[in-house]
Amino acid sequence: MRERVRDRGERTKVVDGVLPMRTECLPWSPAARIGACDLLVAGDVVAVPTETVYGLAADATNPVAVARIYAVKGRPADNPLIVHVGRPMASVAALEAEGLVLTRAVSTAMRASADALMAAWWPGPLTLVLPRGPRVPPIVSSGLHAIGIRMPAHPALLDLLAHLPFPLAAPSANRSNRISPTSSADVLDELGGRIPLVIDGGRCTVGVESTIVRVDKAGQLQLLRPGGLPLEDLETTIARRARPGPPASARALAPGMGPTHYAPRIPLVLASREDAATLRARLGAVCRHATRPRVGLLILDDDATVPRTWELEDVADLVTCLALADPGDGSRVARLLFGALRMFDATTLDAIVVVPPLARRTGLWPAIADRLHRASTRGDVVGDRAASD
Ligand code: TXA
Ligand code: MG
Repeated sequence: MRERVRDRGERTKVVDGVLPMRTECLPWSPAARIGACDLLVAGDVVAVPTETVYGLAADATNPVAVARIYAVKGRPADNPLIVHVGRPMASVAALEAEGLVLTRAVSTAMRASADALMAAWWPGPLTLVLPRGPRVPPIVSSGLHAIGIRMPAHPALLDLLAHLPFPLAAPSANRSNRISPTSSADVLDELGGRIPLVIDGGRCTVGVESTIVRVDKAGQLQLLRPGGLPLEDLETTIARRARPGPPASARALAPGMGPTHYAPRIPLVLASREDAATLRARLGAVCRHATRPRVGLLILDDDATVPRTWELEDVADLVTCLALADPGDGSRVARLLFGALRMFDATTLDAIVVVPPLARRTGLWPAIADRLHRASTRGDVVGDRAASD
């Protein structure tokens, strides 16, 4: 499993700071668990399934192991990691006892809100940002005094955590700024040859990353990233409205939430009701070399009135089209979105044109709008339905 691949059998060549190696992909089993535990205890990284997206895991208490995550992903050091904990940890007291949360920085109101949220939603796609405890080295949180913690709802990962003496730091298992992986094949596509092992736990059931909220001293929530758990559900649990998220400029509160992220290689343009001239201008700006760009269309709006976008064919060569209908809370689009973007991204198209969903503010729609906005080229939003609601 740890065998290094030799360059023509002679020298080992370092690629982007990482030694090439053979990547094994194993379905979850007791043998896979033993292999994963061995690697993680030795300070190596392993890609693991979660219900949201696949993660690239290492011992959260070992700074050398955590540094490996950053190296393998090519991740900037100022983008903190989420710490994943196992089943008995769903209370602030349990996290304090493990040295993950700093007791003297926890107020009564903060404890009450965090405990209520953990009791209601863990395991699940919810990351809480709380004061960092002494057992978590600063590299995990990029030096911040707060850490993001979550208990993932995937049976394989919960079982793995139950067999480890430490929690796991794990960002999404993609190269930095790329689309998050929602299957083991996606992980191999992103990190094959750079990590020793991928645990295959099937396709992710949620499909977008966890919702991240900061819990403040007054017990109030601040949304740092919309995600797989609707904010309104969290507000109901603590019977309080969340504070608005920090402005994009407040990097210290929401690091790693810069405008470009989740980006496909092929330019992505968001478009809904613009006229052909506007769309032509947009496409012209992102595919300068093609007078009549070859585009793939992804429709995420089941509203039958969309269709000025069909004027697309006046300005581009419409090669392929995919529609994901979801009259519900967006969970279906969330589950399929990254896979669809990846499928388009594997083609030789000049651009991906996405018709975003109507501006719906509940369920998983805010998370979908956020990811589309970040995936779009230069944050493009066209038409009257801003995707960044
Ligand atoms: O669903 C998920 O959250 C997935 C799976 C693997 O658990 N993980 C994930 O990790 O999306 P990643 O690294 O791709 O995104 C982590 C984000 C950071 O970019 C940052 O915005 C936020 O979490 N974060 C982590 N620690 C933080 C902290 N101490 N304060 C504020 N934000 C934090
Ligand atoms: Mg990520």
